[in-house]
Amino acid sequence: MYLIGIDSSTTATKSLIIDADGEIAAVGAAEYPFETPHPLWSEQHPDLWWDGTVQSIRAALDQSGIDPSEVAAVGLSGQMHGLVLLDEEGEPLRPAILWNDQRTGKQCDDMRLWLGKENLVRITGNDALTGFTAPKILWVKENEPEIYSRVRQILLPKDYVRYKLTGDFATDKAGAGGTALLELATRDWSPTVLAALEISPELLPPTHEGTQVTGAISAEAAQATGLRAGTPVVGGGGDQPAQAVGVGAIEEGIFALTLGTSGVVFATANKPFYEPEGRLHAFPHALPQKWNLMGVMLSAAGSLRWHRDTLAPGVDYDELLAPAAEVPAGSEGLLFLPYLTGERTPHPDPFARGAFVGLTVRHGLPHMTRAVLEGVAFGLRDSFSLMQGAGLGVIRQVRVSGGGARSALWRQILADVLGSELATVNSTEGAAYGAALLAGVGAGVWPDGESACAATIRVTGSTAPNAAAVEAYNRAYGFYAGLYPALRPTFDGLRPEGEA
Ligand code: XUL
Repeated sequence: MYLIGIDSSTTATKSLIIDADGEIAAVGAAEYPFETPHPLWSEQHPDLWWDGTVQSIRAALDQSGIDPSEVAAVGLSGQMHGLVLLDEEGEPLRPAILWNDQRTGKQCDDMRLWLGKENLVRITGNDALTGFTAPKILWVKENEPEIYSRVRQILLPKDYVRYKLTGDFATDKAGAGGTALLELATRDWSPTVLAALEISPELLPPTHEGTQVTGAISAEAAQATGLRAGTPVVGGGGDQPAQAVGVGAIEEGIFALTLGTSGVVFATANKPFYEPEGRLHAFPHALPQKWNLMGVMLSAAGSLRWHRDTLAPGVDYDELLAPAAEVPAGSEGLLFLPYLTGERTPHPDPFARGAFVGLTVRHGLPHMTRAVLEGVAFGLRDSFSLMQGAGLGVIRQVRVSGGGARSALWRQILADVLGSELATVNSTEGAAYGAALLAGVGAGVWPDGESACAATIRVTGSTAPNAAAVEAYNRAYGFYAGLYPALRPTFDGLRPEGEA
């Protein structure tokens, strides 16, 4: 018996095959680009995800040598918030507008005006953010009315893959939460929000729990992928909720911290929970009867990559980071602000910028490297502080994953900045792994998500905070926290011409 998890990210689609013990049998991947046709825009054609799905499933099946009839179920995951618009033939009407697209400032203001921000947060758990799906729908309605008039179905990226695999329109509740059209408490589309935005509910797919079967592999998709027709496909989850399942962060107090291009702090709640000002994302969890709070920093490991590519091109990360370990905690008064692609949490501001503050002639590349690691850690601490303020802050453990978590120095800095133990786990395949576990629950391999995680995920390592460094960082964090308010008028003044 095997399970498949598929994750369609912004840069690649990955298909993962695991067995009933959670051991990885094969991983297939296919990469693709995304486009930035204008400043602040980010788009990708849905065909890339489908081609990536076909190629990566075929590669994983070949690699594992298993018989497709042994696959009990498929689970889906993928980049969240993207807008896919289909016509009556089920064909995409335009490239998808992605999660990191920042064009919809005006439409977010409209949503706050029409619904009242407090009301919007109370219903959906979220403020209107440029990355979310609803303002993108409004943007197309306003700027491409001819296209909008031909829309018959609105989908998220992962659900376009589901449609191609099964022929069904469906979405998972955790992913649907990221549209800002879902009612947090009922876990279904909000009639109030849809009416205020004049979006017809008929354009939206039915919502399912992440562990529920939503359809089965069609004959056509079987031919394309090599899977068996009739293999069940479960709801799955957006990449962050699926990632949390994939590291076993499914109980209150067990946080997931993901250090990818973006940085995500994810906390599970046993009831609908939101931050009153909507500064954290609040969505249904990928597991039934659970919810989550999430903070998203847009440039986490992305900041380190920019730093390396710009100031030390061609140097590998180990070589870059080793001298930074010799610099004292606090980088001798050098601070880095990680808003290189604008920010979401805690400052939802597409025009926020990065900065080094406090440079002197004493500071060299190792200081700057360490300041980048510390600045990202401070930005993530902002999300933890907001969660604590919202009442969901008792941290029993932080499970860290993603490319950045491979650095022992960065893990130590994070433990010291957060003042909390950091754990690593055996599963390293993130969202695709979580999607495969959700598929296993849907197929009856495990009775629920808790049993699936208990059967497959183990803590493999731990980093404890160092008391002296915690103190140094508490002081530095105070200065860091003052930077955005102080620099905001400058960031506003530096907006690209014509950007309101
Ligand atoms: C979550 C988010 C990102 C994207 C990227 O809110 O925007 O994790 O899903 O893949």
